[in-house]
Amino acid sequence: IEDLTGIHETTDFPVGVAIDSREIVGGAAELLTRHFNQITPENHMKPEAWYDDEGTFRPHDQALAMMDFARDNDLRVYGHVLVWHSQTPDWFFQDAAGQPLTTSAAHQQLLRERLRTHIFAVAESLSQRYGKFGSATNPLHAFDAVNEVVSDSGEYADGLRRSEWYRILGESFIDLTFSYADEAFNDVHAVEGTDPVALFINDYNTEQSGKLARYRALVQRLIARGVPIDGVGHQFHVSLATPVSSLEAALEAFANLPVTQAVTELDVTTGTPVTQAKLIDQAYYYRDAFRIFRAHSDHLLAVTVWGLTDGRSWRSGNGAPLLFDDSLRAKPAYHGAVDGKLPA
Ligand code: G3I
Repeated sequence: IEDLTGIHETTDFPVGVAIDSREIVGGAAELLTRHFNQITPENHMKPEAWYDDEGTFRPHDQALAMMDFARDNDLRVYGHVLVWHSQTPDWFFQDAAGQPLTTSAAHQQLLRERLRTHIFAVAESLSQRYGKFGSATNPLHAFDAVNEVVSDSGEYADGLRRSEWYRILGESFIDLTFSYADEAFNDVHAVEGTDPVALFINDYNTEQSGKLARYRALVQRLIARGVPIDGVGHQFHVSLATPVSSLEAALEAFANLPVTQAVTELDVTTGTPVTQAKLIDQAYYYRDAFRIFRAHSDHLLAVTVWGLTDGRSWRSGNGAPLLFDDSLRAKPAYHGAVDGKLPA
């Protein structure tokens, strides 16, 4: 591992990275603990990860391995995700005969119970093993309560995605998720008198004005209804063609609301083929993005990049999007992010 300044040493907010169990051993783990002080489980805390094929809840080995790694290396854990329209077992939305739930009062009640049971099972399993949330042995500090609930199009008055959650419960599923999560993570299973797990809403394309307006309107409604939402997440899966000023506009849109914010899934694709010139452009992009994040650090809980090394990125087909290459070497993008000396 090169003798370089840790990225988190250059910011006054935690810097996180999305990982799976491959990054908690060997050279990847060394690289990770030098540069980052927070992790997000890329897939292992998603709804489907907690259930076996029979639909029985069981603490997920790999999620626990990541919690262990975080606890042992003084890293925070940013949980991802309690409620999503994707990577969720089908039975959540089906009756005993395997038919889709309707919007009858009985089916709505059934889905509310499943939602509450799921959230409490996650909280209970993690607090049983790591101690109450807010205690020194429990590294969980935040959780994406709901993910990607905003519609990509402007066609609906409420601006919400038409998911199964929405179809059956309407907008109330969002309020309920935050309420149950607040009860489970910040009350029942928390150190008394503390509110240790920041609960986030999270979405992509928030750097685009239409989505941003729908996102902000929803967050305002939640705040007005007294929903216990702590933070607004911006995924920021962007490319060199995305104006970096649009990232700042997204952060500024929430600056005067009573919420914190986080950059939750940052990556910057170069396009293909990957050339040296594009890697240099990418370095300046990360430099400018991190300058914006530092300027907004008073309302940023953390900034997370969505993967440690290029080859492991979900977007590796669109060019090298991350800060380190597959040999665990710092790319120009790293030097940009730390605002260090960039190649000429
Ligand atoms: O683990 C299985 C493996 O056993 C199997 O052989 C292989 C064959 O396809 O699939 C593996 O699972 C894949 C999993 O990643 C683990 O690598 C899934 O197919 C694949 O769909 C899954 O992709 C994840 C994706 O979410 C699913 O929606 C990506 O890793 C993950 O980076 C991505 O993350 C999402 C965030 O949760 C929400 N925001 C957008 C972001 C990017 O899509």
